[in-house]
Amino acid sequence: MTDAAPRPLRAAIVGTGGIAHAHAQAIADLAPRIELAAVADVDIERARAFADGFAPAAAVHPSLSLLLAAEQIDLVHICTPPQTHVPLAIESLRAGVPVLVEKPTALSLTEMDRLVAVSRETGVPALTVFQHRFGHGAQRLIRLLRDGVLGRSLVATCETLWYRPAEYFDVPWRGRWEVEGGGPTMGHGIHQFDLLLAVLGPWRRLSAFAARQALPTDTEDVSMAVVEFESGALATVVNSLVSPRESSRLRFDFERATVEVEHLYGYSDADWAFTPAKGHEHLSAEWAADASDEVSSHRLQISAIIDALAAGTEPAVGAEEARRTLEFAAATYASAFRGVPVSAGDIVDPDPFLTSMDGGAVPWPPLKEVL
Ligand SMILES: NC(=O)c1ccc[n+]([C@@H]2O[C@H](COP(=O)([O-])OP(=O)(O)OC[C@H]3O[C@@H](n4cnc5c(N)ncnc54)[C@H](O)[C@@H]3O)[C@@H](O)[C@H]2O)c1
Repeated sequence: MTDAAPRPLRAAIVGTGGIAHAHAQAIADLAPRIELAAVADVDIERARAFADGFAPAAAVHPSLSLLLAAEQIDLVHICTPPQTHVPLAIESLRAGVPVLVEKPTALSLTEMDRLVAVSRETGVPALTVFQHRFGHGAQRLIRLLRDGVLGRSLVATCETLWYRPAEYFDVPWRGRWEVEGGGPTMGHGIHQFDLLLAVLGPWRRLSAFAARQALPTDTEDVSMAVVEFESGALATVVNSLVSPRESSRLRFDFERATVEVEHLYGYSDADWAFTPAKGHEHLSAEWAADASDEVSSHRLQISAIIDALAAGTEPAVGAEEARRTLEFAAATYASAFRGVPVSAGDIVDPDPFLTSMDGGAVPWPPLKEVL
C-alpha cells in the first residue's frame, strides 16, 4: 500500500494589490503542495477579480476577520500596506494560523517585539518575506561560508540603487513614516541588507547618513551606512531611490574568493560572479557545481516554508531573525539623525527609535511644510 499524498496546504492572501500577484503565482506554480483557498481585501471587487484570475474556487472576503471565521486556513499571506502588517499578523496568530508577512514586517521595533511575543506565546510562526535569501546563489554562498571553504569574511559592499519617479509616491501609503515606516532603508534596500546580514551574521556597530535629496516624501530617499560585524568584517550599505541606472549589488571579499551578484529584483546563478584568490582556483568548480537558472523569488521561499511546515521544523524567515534586520534599519536612522555610531542592542526603552523609525529626530521638515 502506498501512502496517500499529503493534502495541499490551504493558503489565504490578504491584500490583493501589486505584490499579491507574486504570491498567487508562486502558489499556483507550487500546486498541488499548496492551493489558494481564500482571499480578502477591503476592496472586495479587487479581491473578487483577483480570485477570478488565480483561483476561481477561492472564497472571497472583505476582511481577514471574516475570512478566518469562515475558512480552514494553514497559512495567511499578508500583502497589505506596512502599517497593517502586525495587527493582521497578530489576529491570524491568535486564530492559530501561521503568517507570511510582506516586508517591512513592522513599522518599529516596538511593534516587531509585540509580534515576536505573540508568536512565542501562541507557538505559531510569524514569517517575513525576504525572498532573496532563498535563491540558489545565496544558499550556496551561506553553505560554503559555513563549511569554512571561503575563509574569513573581510569586506563587503551592499547597494540598492533604484529609481522611483515622483508619481510613485501618489499612492497614499508611500513615502510617509507613519504608514510605510521609512524610505528606501525600510522599503527597498531592506532586501539587500537582509541578505548581507544572512551571510555575514550579527553586526556590531554602524555609522550612517540619510538625506531627502529629490523626492516628494517625508522619509529619506537615500541612506548609507558603514558597518562592522562581530566577525570583524567591514561593509558599506547604500539604499537609494534616486539612481537612474538601477542596480542591486552585493559583493563579498573573503580570504579565498570574491563573490558578487548584480541584479535588479531577482537573481539567478548567471548574475553571480566568483573570483578565487591566487592559489584557490580549484574553488571555482565548487561554486559552479550545482548551477541553476532559477530566479530568487517568492516561489523559492514559499516552497521552503511548505517543506518546513510539513517536516515540523522552523520555517524561515522567523520573527526573531526578521527583528535583527529591522534593528539594522532602526540603527541606520538613529545613527544618521543623531550623528553618532550605534551598536547592536543600543536601541532600548526609552529610546524613541524603538517606537518609530524617525525617532522624532528627522532633520528635514515634513513635506506639507515644504509645499
Ligand atoms: N517582497 C517584495 O519584493 C515586495 C515588492 C513590492 C511590495 N512589497 C510589499 O508588499 C506590501 C504591499 O505592497 P503592494 O505594492 O502590493 O500594495 P498595494 O497598495 O498594491 O496593495 C495593497 C492591498 O491591500 C489592501 N488592503 C489594505 N488594507 C487592508 C486590510 N486591512 N485588509 C485587507 N486588505 C487591505 C488594499 O485595498 C490593496 O488592494 C508592502 O508592504 C510592500 O512593501 C514587497
